[in-house]
Amino acid sequence: MSDMVDLVIFGGTGDLSTRKLLPALFQLHRHGLAERLHRIIATGRAETDTDSFREEARGNLQRFLPEGRWDDGIWDAFRERLYYVRVEADHPQHYSDLAGLLDTGEAPGRLYYLATLPALYGEICRQLQGAGVVDEYSRVVLEKPLGHDLASCHAINAQVAQVFDEEATFRIDHYLGKETVQNLLALRFGNQLFHPMWNNTYIESVQITVAEEIGVAGRGSYYADTGALRDMVQNHLLQVLSIVAMEPPATLQPGDIRDEKMKVLRCLEPISADNVAECTVRGRYAAGAVAGEAVRGFLEEDAFHDADTTETFVALKVNINNWRWAGVPFYLRTGKRLTRRYSEIVIEYRRQPFSLFANDPQELTNKLVIHLQPEESITLHTLNKKPGLRSKLKLKPVELHLTDDDERDEDSYDAYERLLLDALHGDQTLFMRRDEVETAWRWIDTIIAAWEEAGTPVKNYNAGTMGPNAATALVAVDGRQWHE
Ligand code: BG6
Repeated sequence: MSDMVDLVIFGGTGDLSTRKLLPALFQLHRHGLAERLHRIIATGRAETDTDSFREEARGNLQRFLPEGRWDDGIWDAFRERLYYVRVEADHPQHYSDLAGLLDTGEAPGRLYYLATLPALYGEICRQLQGAGVVDEYSRVVLEKPLGHDLASCHAINAQVAQVFDEEATFRIDHYLGKETVQNLLALRFGNQLFHPMWNNTYIESVQITVAEEIGVAGRGSYYADTGALRDMVQNHLLQVLSIVAMEPPATLQPGDIRDEKMKVLRCLEPISADNVAECTVRGRYAAGAVAGEAVRGFLEEDAFHDADTTETFVALKVNINNWRWAGVPFYLRTGKRLTRRYSEIVIEYRRQPFSLFANDPQELTNKLVIHLQPEESITLHTLNKKPGLRSKLKLKPVELHLTDDDERDEDSYDAYERLLLDALHGDQTLFMRRDEVETAWRWIDTIIAAWEEAGTPVKNYNAGTMGPNAATALVAVDGRQWHE
């Protein structure tokens, strides 16, 4: 692709664009990283125009940019890059209008960002092709959710593939844009220290938690049909799991990394009606209090009354059937309205084969805790000698922090900044390949079928807790507890 790119956002006035994409683009512009970006053309159904869109964008940016990042001078230059074109997904004339605008620019490259209902992705691609604005310099970014199950995902991918090659298709999972998720590659493959012990000889179990404080108000109709398994596990948690579990890639080229992630997804042990009760927990928040504020339960929130089979929490025990991980359970959990917002990966090491210490705290093992958010940090839990004359070789837990505090604040960025930058440069490393997404759906479909067959109930938990008691039991039967 020649250097300059026009970015066209479908769903340009929607929630994602307002809260995430435009602030991320503003930040890239601010940092001087958007040199490849020519214009940002938002499209939507609203009958507005470029001037009004720019005014609205100004207010939204002031609201959604991180504190202290707004700047009048930068806005003056940034606003000149913004355009609006009204486009109804199935209206050929609107695409001609878009084509007219694209033709007036100097950028041969086009990046189409689809952030509408995924059911429209096929139609939008077809219409773009019909309007003659897709060529070898064009790429498409697809937002999640990519389907509701394997069949619908396959259908969307097939429609998009009629217009865009796989090399031109960028499927977003914004968790891959998070700094600490990328740092996993550095931690695992940049250090001799961890790699030799990254297997079932030394590791006892792995936990991945993505806990949220927010509920689903405002996204009710989407969420009621989706639930936590499809919304969070199919993509974010499985992507994180596959980076934790993958073999060293041949190179850091996108194809090589994605090949290794793909192998992990293929080794996920299917969950069936026979073991679904031991391996999964579904929960739904009831009224409670989060961060000191009383909140309603999921079923009391407007419009969700019929959604009593939707889970807002899920916990899973996952086996990866390969040489490295056989016998090491991966416990995953995610939910809305939990105690607080945090995401972490916990690598729990096995105990040493024999203990020499009288007071050896049996429950304490070495752990590597990788915090994804809200703070990004890595902590190694070790045992040291308790200092002092009185304690002759008594052990005490000590945490080693492996975090680069100096660089963090200055260089902190939102996942969408990283991903938009990579898409502008055509780097697919942090985007999901078609076979990855479809393989993940194939595995998720086994769980949904097992839930249906076994009639797995959705258990209530009080908002502000860490999910139903059954989630504690899921790990307790294996003699473990969740890392809090
Ligand atoms: C989205 C889900 O993909 O990720 C939301 O659809 C969820 O339900 C969000 O709230 C979480 O993202 P983050 O970056 O805030 O952890």
